[in-house]
Amino acid sequence: MSVLWVLIISYLLGSIPTGLIVGKLGYGVDIRTLGSGNLGGTNTFRTLGRKAGLIVTVVDALKGTLAASLPYIFQIDLNPMVAGLPAVVGHCFPIFAGFRGGKAVATSAGVLVLYSPLCFVVAISAFLITLYLSKYVSLSSIVAGIIAHTYSILFGDTTLSLVTFILVIFLIWLHRSNINRIVTGTERKISWM
Ligand code: G3P
Repeated sequence: MSVLWVLIISYLLGSIPTGLIVGKLGYGVDIRTLGSGNLGGTNTFRTLGRKAGLIVTVVDALKGTLAASLPYIFQIDLNPMVAGLPAVVGHCFPIFAGFRGGKAVATSAGVLVLYSPLCFVVAISAFLITLYLSKYVSLSSIVAGIIAHTYSILFGDTTLSLVTFILVIFLIWLHRSNINRIVTGTERKISWM
């Protein structure tokens, strides 16, 4: 198995549109036409409820973990963070769903938990604290990304720093409409925390 094939498989794994599948099969709806229109866990929670939201978030994260595991599975010399990156891109721009997907959060978390569980714990703590204080999932996701990158600079290796830097830029860009809404005071807050 070549590195190129592993990167392609990673992208295809990330492209599996969990939110679309759960929405269509379980509820007969395309969640991209509901709520924020995002094909991720947050919008699934928002539009289909806790059970569907939890399933989509966990499976979206597992796509990242599996993609990052591909170098071990195929015994090739490739950093797991690098192997996981195409899955994150696939999650956001899925070939199986018209390139309209999610915003990178759960799949990135799934990659990170495999490579650096400690960095993941620090990031998820930052996410939960920000969510508790602000009630904004989008802001919490961006803060978690920045904290993960900061951790990687202080305690991680070069690959972790580089990939988390790319992910933070990607996260901020994907959340540009959320940032706009936060600034104008129209971003949706969660009501259950
Ligand atoms: O999971 C992405 C989250 O950070 C924001 O999602 O649906 O509120 O745009 P959403």
